[in-house]
Order: sequence, then structure tokens, then C-alpha cells
Amino acid sequence: MSPQTKPKFKNPRARFNYEGRSCSIAGVGSYVPEHVLTNADLEKMVDTSDEWITTRTGIKERHLARKDEYTSDLGARAALRAMQRAGVTAEQIDLIVVATITPDMPFPSTAALIQQKLGAHRAAAFDLEAACAGFIYALEVAQQFIMSRTYDTVLVIGAEKLSSIVDWQDRNTCVLFGDGAGAAVLRNRPDSHGLLTAVMGADGRKADLLFMAGGGSRCPASLESVNARMHYLRMEGKETFKNAVQAMQIAAEEALRRCEIDISRIKLVIPHQANQRIIDAVGERLGARPEQLFVNLHKYGNTSAASVAIALDEAVHSGRVQHGDLLLLVVFGAGLTWGAAVIEW
Ligand code: ACO
Repeated sequence: MSPQTKPKFKNPRARFNYEGRSCSIAGVGSYVPEHVLTNADLEKMVDTSDEWITTRTGIKERHLARKDEYTSDLGARAALRAMQRAGVTAEQIDLIVVATITPDMPFPSTAALIQQKLGAHRAAAFDLEAACAGFIYALEVAQQFIMSRTYDTVLVIGAEKLSSIVDWQDRNTCVLFGDGAGAAVLRNRPDSHGLLTAVMGADGRKADLLFMAGGGSRCPASLESVNARMHYLRMEGKETFKNAVQAMQIAAEEALRRCEIDISRIKLVIPHQANQRIIDAVGERLGARPEQLFVNLHKYGNTSAASVAIALDEAVHSGRVQHGDLLLLVVFGAGLTWGAAVIEW
């Protein structure tokens, strides 16, 4: 094959007989609640400082939902923006997948509640839980339906109201998290390869690094569980940090390897927005230039499943991504879970 005709990357899905079908992101959108909680506000709530939070995490502020504003509200608003940009109506949506660790309630699913809010009455709807890795898990699950021709239009949402499970007396965690939602409309689009590959991984042996003990079948809500503050998330920060850097590097390298490209071919790396030091360490290990890394965590903190979705939306709408660019998304979360995806935009 001459250099002119050599493809610019390998499409790992080409070995399946998809006959020209691709799963592309036809539109993205995001939404964060109005109320902003700054590091200065947190100084009045727990024994912390703007200096500590900024140097250890890079976070300056986060957005918090109102008491009467739920994960489904945030998700529906992000979805409407994504649908508008994709030129898709509620009636056209075949499936809604919502990645979240803060559903409005244990059941019904937040996806079903969003389906009702959007009026997407034809759509099947379910939630998926892979913590901060949830959006990539959801993209990969959703693309199976598009590629198999089961569905033509799938709405994928990462939405969180983490403020509802953050212990506002625990300085180790309360400075890290925020609320928000991001959404993507997936469709077959023949002029782009779309989601080229997605790596997903998990290690349940390390489930105790990051968890919420109360509210499930193991420890249903009781006076004791509430008094013991078991309905709040707990995290072993240092160990989580180390595992995050390692897992994100391995997942990203595997995704690049599958596409037979190196990091220099990636226009933008969009990582899970948990900690600037994690992003810097992963970027360095991958050999990415600083300008290849998209960062917005200073504005939002860690919004778990919404994080990479909000970042993708901001990257696209700030003009940093053009048609044909290759993007690398890389995430990490409780479970432990992790993932990486290569997308041709
Ligand atoms: N303000 C002031 N001091 C603090 C604060 C705070 N908010 N929080 C902790 N400290 C103190 C600690 O008590 C400790 O004090 P000591 O040395 O006297 O014991 C000191 O600061 C250092 O604490 P470390 O935990 O060692 O700090 P570290 O540098 O590891 O940073 C952090 C902590 C920011 C939590 C970091 O470990 C981290 O980002 N971890 C990863 C988080 C993550 O990526 N999560 C992803 C998944 S999230 C999901 O799935 C929902």
C-alpha cells in the first residue's frame, strides 16, 4: 500500500462485519447547577484552606444542586442541549443509558425519570453504575446497539448530585466533589468512524478504597446507619491516587495500541477530572504535551460519571475539537473501575 493510501489509523471494529456502520457522537451537551461553592466558602465549613485544596487538587470551585434539583433534572438539561445540537427530537430516541452513582432513588432508574422529563416515550431506559468510569462504560454499551443495528439513536448521560452523598464534615472528601451532568447523542454517521475502541476494566479486590456503605442491601437505612454516617462516601485518597494513575495509563495505552497510533496523533486527551496531579502524572506517562490535556476541574471539581462528559462538551464547544480529530478519553473510579476510548470526531 502506498503512503498516500495507508489509513491514518486502524479501526479495531473493522474485523466485525459492520458494513460501513459507525457509532458517532452527533451532539454533546452539559449542565451544571447555578450555585457555586468556592474554596473560600469551604474554609468556613471545615479545617481547610484554598492553598491546600489548590495545590493538592487544582480545584477552585464546584457547582452544587439545589435541594429540590435532582440528578434526573441535571441529566435532562444536559440531554436537551445534546439533542438540540444533534438535531434529534425526543421521539427519535431509542434508548437512554444513564451512568450515575447518585440516582434520584434506588429505583426506578434515573434513566426512566429522564425519559419522562424529555418525553422520549419510545425509548428503553436503564442506569449503569461504574462510578467515575461510568460514562465510558455507557458509551461502549450504547455503541453495541448502534453497531448491531438494534437502535439508531441512543442518548448516553453521565449525571451526578454528589453533594447528596458527600460528608460536609469530612475535609478529606468534601473539598473534592461537585454536581453536574453531560450527555451525548450517539448515531450511525457514515462520514466518521466515531467511537473506534473502548477499553473497560475493573478490580473488585480494591472495592474498599472508595465506597458508600449505607443504603444498599448490606446495610439498609436505619437510625444506626445514619448516626454512623454510613450514607456518605468514604475514600482512601492516597491509594486511590496511585491506582488511578496506573490504571489510566494502562487503559489509555491499550486503546492507542488497538488503533495502532501513538499519543502524538491525539488532538486532545480528555481525562476524568479528579485531581490536577493525577492528570499531570497520566499525561507525563503517556508522553502527552501539556497542551494536549483538557482540564476544567478548577471550575467543577470531581463530578464522577459526569466529569468526562462535561469536559468533552466544553472541549468541543470551545473550538478545540474539529471534525476528523482523534480524541482520547480516559477515566477512573470506584470499583475500582477504569476505561479509555479513542474517538474520531
Ligand atoms: N484541607 C487541609 N488538609 C487536608 C485536607 C483538606 N481538605 N484533606 C486532607 N488533609 C490533610 C490530611 O489530613 C493529611 O494530614 P496529616 O499528614 O496530618 O495526616 C494531609 O492533608 C495529607 O493528606 P493526604 O491524603 O496524604 O493528601 P494527598 O496528597 O494524598 O491528597 C487527595 C489527597 C487530594 C484526596 C488525593 O489523594 C486524591 O486526589 N486522591 C484520588 C481521588 C480520586 O482520584 N478519586 C477518583 C475516583 S472518585 C469516584 O469514583 C467517585
